[in-house]
Amino acid sequence: MEARISTISKQLSKQELDKKKSRTRLKLVTAGEDKRILQSRVYDVAVIGLGYVGLPLCLAFAKSGASVLGVDVDVSKSTSIQAGKSYIKHIASTDIATAVENKTLSATDDFSKLTNAESILICVPTPLTINRTPDLSYVKNTVKALAPHLREKQLVVLESTTYPGTTDEVVKPILEAGSGLIAGEDFYLAYSPEREDPGNPKSNFSDCPKVIGGLSSVCLEKACSLYERIVKNVVPVSDCKIAEATKLMENIFRSINIALVNELKVIYSQMGINVWEVIQAASTKPFGYMPFYPGPGLGGHCIPIDPFYLSWKALEFGHHTRLIELAGEINTAMPDYVVSRVIDALNDSGKPVKKSRVLILGIAYKADVDDDRESPSYVIMQALEKRGAFVSYNDPHVPVIQPGRSHHAEAGRESVPISNNFDVILLCTNHKEYKEFNFEALNVPLVDCRNASSSRPASYYAA
Ligand SMILES: NC(=O)c1ccc[n+]([C@@H]2O[C@H](COP(=O)([O-])OP(=O)(O)OC[C@H]3O[C@@H](n4cnc5c(N)ncnc54)[C@H](O)[C@@H]3O)[C@@H](O)[C@H]2O)c1
Repeated sequence: MEARISTISKQLSKQELDKKKSRTRLKLVTAGEDKRILQSRVYDVAVIGLGYVGLPLCLAFAKSGASVLGVDVDVSKSTSIQAGKSYIKHIASTDIATAVENKTLSATDDFSKLTNAESILICVPTPLTINRTPDLSYVKNTVKALAPHLREKQLVVLESTTYPGTTDEVVKPILEAGSGLIAGEDFYLAYSPEREDPGNPKSNFSDCPKVIGGLSSVCLEKACSLYERIVKNVVPVSDCKIAEATKLMENIFRSINIALVNELKVIYSQMGINVWEVIQAASTKPFGYMPFYPGPGLGGHCIPIDPFYLSWKALEFGHHTRLIELAGEINTAMPDYVVSRVIDALNDSGKPVKKSRVLILGIAYKADVDDDRESPSYVIMQALEKRGAFVSYNDPHVPVIQPGRSHHAEAGRESVPISNNFDVILLCTNHKEYKEFNFEALNVPLVDCRNASSSRPASYYAA
């Protein structure tokens, strides 16, 4: 890793030299000065944004022995942390309580405390606006609130997923204007994307390599040595843009491959071919193939959103991201396909959609998590209700629907038990509870988007 940083440092140092010539505020800070300034810090790391990304990050640093401050505008989150309670289902309260008791973790909504942190990591949302353009308001508001508290020698790392150029073109100027400090000289700035895989018991934080880009070689070194505390491998890259583009490439790759299997699912279904068996057989190829699985549409905070950050930025360079748009089109059409399969199932029972009782299994977008952001289940629910169906849902991970950006109208609805009081059951999310459920005994037509059920009623429809 050191050799890699050294190569990158050489590339960067030429650019830096040019920049330095034109700067009047250039200061050479010795290692001794650095140490003196940093000794006055209280927290090794502060994490702004304590959601699905920020909270596990806090815990990883706390476990490494670092003193961590979590900061969020949502007071309920800092209050829960202080009380040792988790608000994310797959994160254990005991992990938070232990860190709080050991005094390695505390949380607040007070941004002025950030002045006491050696490093500050930003993990706030980056959604799309209603016109599907990047909504950087959370990032901008965060850096505006941070800037007055920024001090010399602090390291700031943006972790939120975003388009290439955000750290240099958006974060840097706001921090500099609000603090009077210069990035790369007075404070350090870097970008490092998160690779969180919520709910996957096999995913281990420290095993997942961390890609890091810095504004300068010193920024890169500072950020690498910070993350080396919590991951086995850091992957230094030449600049922030490369790190930003890397994250987008990973998610665009997923979006496009999911679109491919979704398209094949529809075609193979009409040919009487089970796409799941095809994928299983293709996966035996030891090279050149990687399985992706079809579903009712994209969900979560990443795959349905991130590719369009690049599409927006590409327009600035006169390019239309045609493949990204096409994949988006195919994936967005999946809820309509699922609705058509529900209509088929009802039709075969001699029932119209209007006034039929539909039970959706799974409101969370992904198996065994409570995250329902951008969930296709909401799109399907709304489409069926528009046609006059009475729709209920069951989700062991979402007992009550909380208000959210993609589903205001559904907030407050409660999960109901699985029973035979329905005309059709639609399995949208492959929670482990559904894999084990006896649908055969229930004998209600089942539409299955996930090939999840091992026990199938006589009327079974793949979707
Ligand atoms: N969830 C994932 O699996 C995942 C994986 C990789 C990357 N990401 C990216 O990480 C970023 C964060 O995602 P997330 O899933 O953790 O989001 P989240 O919604 O779960 O959490 C974000 C937190 O930021 C807080 N926040 C919003 N504005 C703030 C502000 N101005 N100051 C302080 N706190 C503020 C919110 O209250 C919330 O607690 C996004 O860019 C996302 O695309 C997410």
